[in-house]
Amino acid sequence: MADWDAMRVLVTGGAGYIGSHTVLALLEAGHQVTVVDSYVNSSPLVIERLEELSGQEIPAIELDLTDYSATNQLFHSHEFDAVIHFAGLKAVGESVEKPALYYRNNLDSALSVIEAMQNAGVKKFVFSSSATVYGPKAPVPYQEDWEPLEATNPYGQTKVMIERILTDVAAVSPGWKVALLRYFNPVGAHISGRIGEDPQGFPNNLMPYLSQVAVGRREKLIIHGNDYDTKDGTGERDYIHVTDLAEGHVAALNHLGDQQQSTRAYNLGSGVPTSVLELLHSFECAVGRELPYEVGPRRAGDIAAFYANPARAAAELGWRTSRSIADMTQDTWRWQSANPNGFADLEAATDS
Ligand code: NAD
Ligand code: WQD
Repeated sequence: MADWDAMRVLVTGGAGYIGSHTVLALLEAGHQVTVVDSYVNSSPLVIERLEELSGQEIPAIELDLTDYSATNQLFHSHEFDAVIHFAGLKAVGESVEKPALYYRNNLDSALSVIEAMQNAGVKKFVFSSSATVYGPKAPVPYQEDWEPLEATNPYGQTKVMIERILTDVAAVSPGWKVALLRYFNPVGAHISGRIGEDPQGFPNNLMPYLSQVAVGRREKLIIHGNDYDTKDGTGERDYIHVTDLAEGHVAALNHLGDQQQSTRAYNLGSGVPTSVLELLHSFECAVGRELPYEVGPRRAGDIAAFYANPARAAAELGWRTSRSIADMTQDTWRWQSANPNGFADLEAATDS
């Protein structure tokens, strides 16, 4: 018997990349799930895939969470025990070009959910934060008690601000328990190949770009610099399989009842740095052939290497990563090769 009770969980942004994988992990753990999503960066067809994979009906409400009145009404018409908040815009480059959009969307949606929770007496909150909150001055490996948090772009600033908002709200709200989950670099796809990362437009991140090269949608990978002080000169990051990440959310949710602090931050990462070239070569093994690339200039804003100290999540949540870089690239390739255009193929088939 689990040492926690099954909960009715609202998953905001649950049709998105990480949210969809977490929905499956929550259902497998015995929780009940309701999804809310505006589909600004995802497809409602993801819900169908989740119902197919889980064998369960998944209530999904289309709603823009910046609409406080509609969000509050959602909490009046449903019973929730907890919220896992994934909803938000996440493209660093776009946030630099459109800061007002990012502050409006990410802050207003978080505040809508927080105020609706207060009105409805819901007191458990798990937040999608990011290692980007540590900023360029933090010593590596990153440690949760580092201060000051300072992001170098508007997207990262929204994460710093929402962590602050949640900390202040939980401190004066009796019974509130908040987990701030600072993800490193999520990659990979569900082992079935039926759901995975499906970036709209130009893929800014390494793994989806590499995956689109492998499936023929992009000509070649441009490696952003090979003159860093790292094992092979290319950037090093702490990649985490999206299913490991999803399981980390379940562990954090289940632990909230025992959490001593009103708010607690946790690094969700492997603690192991992997270079761009290492990831490229792993992907080539998954695909079974070499992939075209060339080395270009460093990308503005990049730092050479960062990775997690994952000790707190292991000690307090009993969670650590278990899937390898090979698992990440093989699972990504299984998803991408079966869905060359992501969910667009499914949408086209549905529209025809
Ligand atoms: P995603 O874009 O796939 O998912 C986010 C979901 O939120 C989408 O389905 C989108 O439609 C929805 N959404 C956005 N604004 C909304 C609004 N106002 N109302 C309702 N729904 C809204 O992104 P993801 O990669 O799954 O990331 C999920 C969360 O994790 C985000 O908050 C992101 O900032 C955070 N995060 C992601 C990464 C990463 O590398 N993917 C790393 C660290 C943190
Ligand atoms: C990884 C490595 C690049 C693309 C970003 C956000 C962060 C978080 C995770 C939301 C780096 C190199 C990349 C390419 C390359 N997102 N690279 N060619 O920058 O570590 O983190 O995603 O929270 O906020 O900043 O991830 O995948 O963009 O880059 O050489 O075409 O791959 O230089 O070394 P990053 P990334």
